[in-house]
Amino acid sequence: MAAPTGSRTAAAALAPVGVVPAQSVPTTTTAAPAAAPTTAPAAAPTTAPAGRTTATTSLRRGLPRVPNGEPWPPKGLAPAAAPAVVVDPAAAPAVVVDPAAAPAVVVDPAAQEDHGLIAQPPAPVAGRAEAVAAAERSPSTTAPAVKTVPKPAAPKTAAAAADKPARAKAQAGLNGARTQGQWIKLVALLAVGAVAAAGILVLAARGVTTLPGVPAFLARYPGEYQLPAAAGSGFPWWAQWTHFMNIFLMVLIIRSGYQVRTQQKPPAFWTPKSGGKKISINLWLHQSLDILWLATGLIYVVLLFASGRWTRMVPTSWEVFPNALSALLQYMTLDWPIENGWVNYNSLQQIMYFIVVFIAAPLAAITGARMSEFWPKDAKKLNRIYPVEIARAVHFPTMLFFVLFILIHVFLVLSTGALRNLNHMFGGTDVVNWVGFWLFAATIAVTVAGWYAARPLVLALVAKPFGKVSSR
Ligand code: HEM
Ligand code: HEM
Repeated sequence: MAAPTGSRTAAAALAPVGVVPAQSVPTTTTAAPAAAPTTAPAAAPTTAPAGRTTATTSLRRGLPRVPNGEPWPPKGLAPAAAPAVVVDPAAAPAVVVDPAAAPAVVVDPAAQEDHGLIAQPPAPVAGRAEAVAAAERSPSTTAPAVKTVPKPAAPKTAAAAADKPARAKAQAGLNGARTQGQWIKLVALLAVGAVAAAGILVLAARGVTTLPGVPAFLARYPGEYQLPAAAGSGFPWWAQWTHFMNIFLMVLIIRSGYQVRTQQKPPAFWTPKSGGKKISINLWLHQSLDILWLATGLIYVVLLFASGRWTRMVPTSWEVFPNALSALLQYMTLDWPIENGWVNYNSLQQIMYFIVVFIAAPLAAITGARMSEFWPKDAKKLNRIYPVEIARAVHFPTMLFFVLFILIHVFLVLSTGALRNLNHMFGGTDVVNWVGFWLFAATIAVTVAGWYAARPLVLALVAKPFGKVSSR
């Protein structure tokens, strides 16, 4: 590499002993002159072999070490400083071999500091490069190579020892247990792994579809089955409104539930007017939203059955299972089932919606109610059969299920004809235009507003008419 001599010198001078490649170590010899006043005399012969010194190298002298003093280093030391500048990298390792030599040239840290010769902690590579560039730009910084002379590997003073962990951290660029680089590598590795695993799954699913009997199975069970005529089609206004309420409430319920779980010191408390048990304001919010959510759900389910629409949501034939398997296989091959949500859901979708409405929601309610103050404490027999621990153990995983469902649900809604799907549920039409999208955007805006509004000060105001709000 044809690096300019000056830069090699500076780079070598910045490199810490024991970390850098061997050829940079000759800098140690650079230290000798700078440190001359405090260096052990033995150091010179050990670390600066005569064969490597060049008397012809011009000395670059820097700032004086004392006010109005002579430029440093003194003239007479020019030959000894030279090796670091002219040293042949190939020959360099010979200089490093004797580790004992390094400490021999150690400059007294105190003396270094006195003279502004503060041994720098090993700079990260970029920082080192900058320093090299700066050294090349300004003669005043390049001249005293000693200015950046690294401290030897074994620090001799307590200060240096104390400096060690900080230096190690700076050196590694630590961010938690791993360096930033390691994190990036880990995330990249996981992403590559996930893509590879998904690829393998897709290939495997495609392989399965070629197995004997599978094409016939897929033809017989296309992923959905014929609904009873009463199911009707489209999305009535009440389905749209309850779905909107569901989004708004669900987001805030998940958030407040999570706060109940994690917040050690709630910002405020709420006591019912009747004088019941004091609860955190987060739990008050959680339970108040739950009541609204249950009321919305009740309206939805009543209208679902009254309208005959329930057959879209509740499986009415055993064919739902082979069709769900068929739909799953089609999703996995990336040859997705035909989107026909205006008229009918595919069987996998139907099963998922059924679980959400008729299993997960009631489960959240019954476990939540068990933990709440509404639950009768004196019902000894009931409480023995249904202990609160079970409720607590089920309630949180139910939330996790909801979160997972929502993520997949929204992903599929947006990736299987976003505008048409959004028009179904938010606009009530089966056309492809942006109306549904903007209504969806408004829903998100209202939900975000609710999120920001649900802060302690606002909550306290809203909760006050229903009970006593206190700070502890
Ligand atoms: C940003 C959030 C959401 C979006 C964009 C969204 C969108 C949609 C759309 C477009 C449909 C109609 C599907 C079709 O036409 O094929 C739908 C149906 C449905 N969604 Fe969502 N949804 C969201 C959140 C939720 C949440 C939080 C839940 C429940 C936890 C939920 C439960 C349902 C159910 C049960 C249906 C079927 C309703 C019926 O047909 O009566 N959705 N959703
Ligand atoms: C009618 C329905 C619900 C009721 C009555 C209810 C009630 C409760 C109660 C009383 C607690 C406090 C538990 C405690 O003191 O440790 C709680 C916690 C919680 N709720 Fe609900 N909840 C309901 C629905 C939901 C839903 C739908 C979700 C999320 C999808 C949810 C998520 C949570 C979470 C994450 C916690 C914290 C759980 C923990 O500490 O382990 N809740 N809920």
